[in-house]
Amino acid sequence: MSRQPKTPKSALLPLSRLNSMPVAEALEHCGGFFEHSPWIVEDALQKRPFASVHEFHAACMRVVHNADVARQLELIRAHPDLVGRLAREGRLGLESTQEQASAGLSELTEEEIKAFETYNSAYHERFGFPFVICARRNRKEAILAALPQRLEQTKTEEIRTALAEIGDIALLRMADAVREDT
Ligand code: GUN
Repeated sequence: MSRQPKTPKSALLPLSRLNSMPVAEALEHCGGFFEHSPWIVEDALQKRPFASVHEFHAACMRVVHNADVARQLELIRAHPDLVGRLAREGRLGLESTQEQASAGLSELTEEEIKAFETYNSAYHERFGFPFVICARRNRKEAILAALPQRLEQTKTEEIRTALAEIGDIALLRMADAVREDT
């Protein structure tokens, strides 16, 4: 699990700067925290100033939870499949590639790849959106064990679980990009 920031702490965006910069500039730094969904951070920025990274994250999660179900589904569907075609063809963005690799998903046996393909298509068929789990918080074994369990849930439960996982993905991305002023 890669919890270490990729950049030295001094190079991260200080929260005080984030609190005072124009929205467009803040989105250049933070627009990617939620996969292909900059509207979440953009809306949350209206609640500045934030006293901590967790406060910023909580404001974002309020936007997610207050969104209607159609928008929540749009957010979930913005995520690439784990071990999907894009991942196997090396066509994911840098962040997604690193997240999937940190779970060991870039080094799978043929059998494991087949298992992911089978689960992913069963999951899409049942729920109509991709399976989302925070890859940086789980190893491939845990992800493969979670899939059949998640397939047992109702669609409403799965939406709730997927949004919580998306919150975890965003928090780790935030911690890699923004630092609290000392
Ligand atoms: N799809 C399912 N889980 C993840 C994740 O952790 N990161 C990204 N980028 N996509 C995912």
